[in-house]
Amino acid sequence: MNEAERSRCCRTSSPLTADGMGMVGRGLCICGGREPTPGKSPHPRSHWGWGPPLLCSSLSPPLPRKGHASLVQELKEVLRTPPGALVLAVGGGGLLAGVVAGLLEVGWQHVPIIAMETHGAHCFNAAITAGKLVTLPDITSVAKSLGAKTVAARALECMRVCEIHSEVVEDAEAVSAVQQFLDDERMLVEPACGAALAAIYSGLLGRLQAKGCLPPSLTSVVVIVCGGNNINNRELQALKTHLGQV
Ligand SMILES: Cc1ncc(COP(=O)(O)O)c(C=O)c1O
Repeated sequence: MNEAERSRCCRTSSPLTADGMGMVGRGLCICGGREPTPGKSPHPRSHWGWGPPLLCSSLSPPLPRKGHASLVQELKEVLRTPPGALVLAVGGGGLLAGVVAGLLEVGWQHVPIIAMETHGAHCFNAAITAGKLVTLPDITSVAKSLGAKTVAARALECMRVCEIHSEVVEDAEAVSAVQQFLDDERMLVEPACGAALAAIYSGLLGRLQAKGCLPPSLTSVVVIVCGGNNINNRELQALKTHLGQV
């Protein structure tokens, strides 16, 4: 098998993630850590386009950002009118930056964004509090997919462009949201996604409305639900046991 035929993933990608992408048994090439050197692709020799599966940092321009921005284009096609709020999870800030770019593209930059993180993977919230980029000493949250120690500068710049409410939930709230979403929608997602879902299930949206941070009546709320690779039933049960939820 030559180099171009090998699948690639990060050193910290879990076996579940690699397996979910059909990478196992295909000459998996483990290359790079989770956080790329600023300005450098973490996968310098990988190729874009059709080919073997590629796990890349959501901050590697330009493909992931275009993909994230296109979510908003699709939303506009479906909804026609802007939602009352948009909820998403923040890891290194790639999804947030892409969605903000998409909102600008379609003229929806007035839509408030609720940017969700879990405690222990809250580099965006920490940066906002400090007024500058900060590096978390460690990732202590179970939402490992949000495990960037430092948020991208671009994500912090988004604060100047859109109304962004940065919110942090506990792991237990994120995992409870995963279970509730599974029961409601029959879809199993990672705790990283549970962070976003917790905005709904924990009543956070209502609290933001009560505080006047969001309008009292919201026409619709969009939650970006992604991240189903790094979870299965056994993992969910283990997380619940770990958090004392069983
Ligand atoms: C479920 C989920 N939501 C959102 C994100 C956003 O991550 P980032 O801010 O690094 O783009 C991730 C990252 O892996 C994720 O797994």
